[in-house]
Amino acid sequence: QAGLRRQLIDIHEAATQYFQQALQSPEAARAREYISSRAITSETIAQFRIGYAPDDFNHMRDALGKHFNDETMRASGLFSSKEQNDEGRPTGNMYSRFRKRITFPICNEAGKTIAFTARALDSDEKSGPKYMNSPETPLYTKGQVLFNLDKAKSAIRTQDYALLVEGQMDCIRVFTSGIQPVIATSGTAFTEHQVRLLGRFTKRVVVNFDPDTAGANAAEKSLALLTEAEFEVRIVTLDGGLDPDRFVQEKGIVAYADALKTAKPHAEYLVDRARALFPQRTAEAKVKAVNFLLPHIRRLPSAIQRTQFVDDAAQKLGIDSSLMRQELQHAATHRL
Ligand code: GTP
Ligand code: MN
Ligand code: MN
Ligand code: MN
Ligand code: MN
Repeated sequence: QAGLRRQLIDIHEAATQYFQQALQSPEAARAREYISSRAITSETIAQFRIGYAPDDFNHMRDALGKHFNDETMRASGLFSSKEQNDEGRPTGNMYSRFRKRITFPICNEAGKTIAFTARALDSDEKSGPKYMNSPETPLYTKGQVLFNLDKAKSAIRTQDYALLVEGQMDCIRVFTSGIQPVIATSGTAFTEHQVRLLGRFTKRVVVNFDPDTAGANAAEKSLALLTEAEFEVRIVTLDGGLDPDRFVQEKGIVAYADALKTAKPHAEYLVDRARALFPQRTAEAKVKAVNFLLPHIRRLPSAIQRTQFVDDAAQKLGIDSSLMRQELQHAATHRL
């Protein structure tokens, strides 16, 4: 299937250029307004090859159909049809999947576009989900790609850490403001594959997800995977309910860099989170806090780390640490 992969790379390059040109067309005036309302400069548009998918079903199919065969068109993920096969490939009359959206190329490590994520201009129901992504294709497996790794990887290597954020917009803002070792999970849970991929460049990660419940849950899941893989993980929570994009816009990149310096080591972060979730000083609340922490502690690869974590947690929660070690033993026995 080397031929098909090559064709799929080529059609994604053609689609990237199609969307880039469409952003300059008269009908994209609202899209350009939206982009400038989010303080995205023309340099950023060019660097990230941001584009626009017009509000049209047929034009892109007709344009690309002149250069690519039917198999490539159907396998590309760029088109939908009413009928599809088990793999979700369109089998009927194809039309544009992305319409009336700002498009962001998702690139492989070499910087070639392999998929798109596309943001709606409006937030009404008719516009569908806020972000829409390419489906999985022979080129693109969602859990195997890290957004911006192509641009960030050399900085990740030389600075020996990666900053992990949730959204494309967060990632683009932070990167273009001068903090380069930044990548995005694109709102999905971090996967083992992504951990291995990142591990080729660094074993140190600073996680800065959105300061909301979804972000906290995603952070917990991601740091479980990362600590299991022996990464050194620290977590930043921004004040004021701002995500990295808005924080940098409102307070500036220097304030953001300062906030990154306050990143907590993962054990400290988890104990603080356990205390925030179960703030009462009752025995019951302490049991809940311990139960929240135990799975995280068990995942740590070294006994030294586990003991250290237990001692810190016990002290902060006001529990006898030998009791908490017993709980850890107990939980371990029951898992086996
Ligand atoms: P903006 O509103 O454009 O600033 O987006 P955001 O990055 O702040 O969005 P949010 O925090 O809601 O989500 C973080 C990331 O999750 C986004 O960058 C997307 O990658 C993804 N995401 C958000 N909404 C959707 C959605 O409706 N569908 C899908 N598939 N992904 C989404
Ligand atoms: Mn969010
Ligand atoms: Mn949200
Ligand atoms: Mn966000
Ligand atoms: Mn945002």
